[in-house]
Amino acid sequence: MYQTLLTDLQDGTFIITINRPDKLNALNKDVIEELGQAINEVYNNEAIKTVILTGAGEKGFVAGADISEFTALDAAGGAALAKKGQDHVFDKIENCPKPVIAAVNGFALGGGCELAMSCHFRVAAENAKFGQPEVNLGLIPGYGGTQRLTQLIGKGKAMELMMTADMIGAEEAKSLGLVNHVFPLQDLMAETKKIAQKIQTKAPIAISQIIASINEAAKGETNGFANEIKRFGLCFSTSDMKEGTTAFLEKRKASFVGK
Ligand code: COA
Repeated sequence: MYQTLLTDLQDGTFIITINRPDKLNALNKDVIEELGQAINEVYNNEAIKTVILTGAGEKGFVAGADISEFTALDAAGGAALAKKGQDHVFDKIENCPKPVIAAVNGFALGGGCELAMSCHFRVAAENAKFGQPEVNLGLIPGYGGTQRLTQLIGKGKAMELMMTADMIGAEEAKSLGLVNHVFPLQDLMAETKKIAQKIQTKAPIAISQIIASINEAAKGETNGFANEIKRFGLCFSTSDMKEGTTAFLEKRKASFVGK
């Protein structure tokens, strides 16, 4: 169905694999278009409960936007490219009501690092490398990197990484809070699936409200506390809340249906 992606639904977990390994899964127009379609599928398909985003091959998650598409662009064309990607893919992933986890299996540079950062959290293989090397090309990040890297690792470190174009390894990324876990490459998908499966045992509406509230905190939304109160209240109107509290009091495991 997709030309540049592989998709697979396994036990409610939708695995999206960017599949241009000969170009280290660089994000060209087709990949951006199809990633947007795949994320729409996530929003619309009730069978999808959680998502894992990864790259094909053992070397690259995504080595950035496809640099070969940059040469013909002027100022308006560059801005349009960034806007299309942000609107069509990156913001949709960030605001997705279902958890999206990046399984970073190699280079996550430029748009690749930005793609991983648009996911709700990241796990990495030991060989993963992160960086925002756009300055080497006379550019800055355009898919939200200046905003999300600053949110995730703080201003000083984000400044240094973008100014130097340095790459950092998985353990350093973990120590900075950019990734949550580091696994051997051969275990990466199995371990990420375990996390996704654990999340799938929880109440989906509560999960979607957690995503919305934490996103507001990360963006410095001034009504975050008030909105949390509203969302807390909203959860009381769900049958999953009744099931969760009743199951606790009856000393049994809750079974959630997403209603
Ligand atoms: N855009 C387009 N093509 C890319 C790419 C990108 N961002 N990143 C890698 N590729 C291509 C290479 O051109 C090469 O294609 P070819 O075999 O047809 O020549 C192929 O992917 C393999 O990459 P290569 O550079 O040969 O691998 P390497 O192991 O020597 O180096 C990197 C790996 C990631 C260090 C190097 O590819 C690189 O610096 N890529 C660009 C990173 C970047 O600046 N990203 C930000 C873009 S805004």
